[in-house]
Amino acid sequence: MTQAPNQGTSPKEKKSLNWAELGFSYHATDYRFRAVHRNGQWSEGELITENTIVAHEGAPALHYAQQCFEGLKAQTAPDGRVLLFRPELNAERMRQAAGRLLMPEVPESLFIRGVEEAVRANYAWIPPHGSGAALYIRPMLIGLGENLGLKTANEFEFRVFVSPVGPYYKSAGLAVISLAVSELDRAAPSGTGNYKIGANYAGGLLATRMAQQLGANEALYLDARERKYIDEAGSANIVVSMKNGSFVTPGSNAVLPSVTRRSIMTLAEQELDLSIEQRAINLREELPDFEEVAACGTAAVISPVGKIWVDDQWHRFYGNGEEAGPVMKRLYELLVGIQRGETDDKFGWTHEV
Ligand code: PLP
Ligand code: COI
Repeated sequence: MTQAPNQGTSPKEKKSLNWAELGFSYHATDYRFRAVHRNGQWSEGELITENTIVAHEGAPALHYAQQCFEGLKAQTAPDGRVLLFRPELNAERMRQAAGRLLMPEVPESLFIRGVEEAVRANYAWIPPHGSGAALYIRPMLIGLGENLGLKTANEFEFRVFVSPVGPYYKSAGLAVISLAVSELDRAAPSGTGNYKIGANYAGGLLATRMAQQLGANEALYLDARERKYIDEAGSANIVVSMKNGSFVTPGSNAVLPSVTRRSIMTLAEQELDLSIEQRAINLREELPDFEEVAACGTAAVISPVGKIWVDDQWHRFYGNGEEAGPVMKRLYELLVGIQRGETDDKFGWTHEV
């Protein structure tokens, strides 16, 4: 059953959720946006109520992982405006993934409209300002239709669903996390590591479990060719504040080009006056030079990494691995301040819905 919400008169009352208690999990909302691609053309797109997808049993998304997705958040500003953060970069990244997997590109206008409509239609589910929660937005592009052999789908769906979420890691705000170097690789040097596609994640489930068995929150992947250089964590990029004052992120082309990381690098350079570098980071050789480490991403925001498990032992950073250091704290405040509309958006990063 498809049912369009009453556009323009969406309810202004919020759902009575305990926003501050939300974790990072799926919470069904009222509407999702769907457009379909058939015979070389995208449909106009519409809001629907069903949260399931009917797929042919041979659909390439199910067998050959012909699918990609995105993740971004909507947050409520103190004056009630609802803000997205640099959604055009998510649109661009999804177009790149589509090209890599031989899927039709979702034009930026359709991507942004799908996101905006899904957010507006679910206004009641957008966490209020000050709750610490956000509306997570999950756009996805999947290959559907009858198929058996290894070839591209004949039908595609672009869907955007939303869910109110709390912090990805357990505690709110600046949770200090730990990582364990994975014995399993995430991405080959000329593979698909720099695209946000499901195929990169299924193989990481076991790596994540192994890291958690060691007491870490997540796996930390090294480059697959030499197993020396930092690539990224299972769901986030890595940034390092060095003892010499420089601020570094891996130069690897096998990691996801994180919107959060790109924004943090700009803030580190322009607001904190740090000298920034994007280059190969040799984990074992450079560990003693690390002052503060953090994982960053839409879900992870900026999560300081207190310790990393490398070669059978923990290596601890700022504050003996127990607390967030001043550089990551400041970057967190700057980033979150802009995303929540609390501070001047001098870079023009927010997008009002
Ligand atoms: N790396 C991986 C593997 C991710 O899944 C994510 C999450 O989107 C990120 C990095 C962070 O990217 P972004 O900041 O664009 O959310
Ligand atoms: C995000 O940060 O948006 C992600 O997609 C990470 C995901 C593994 C939850």
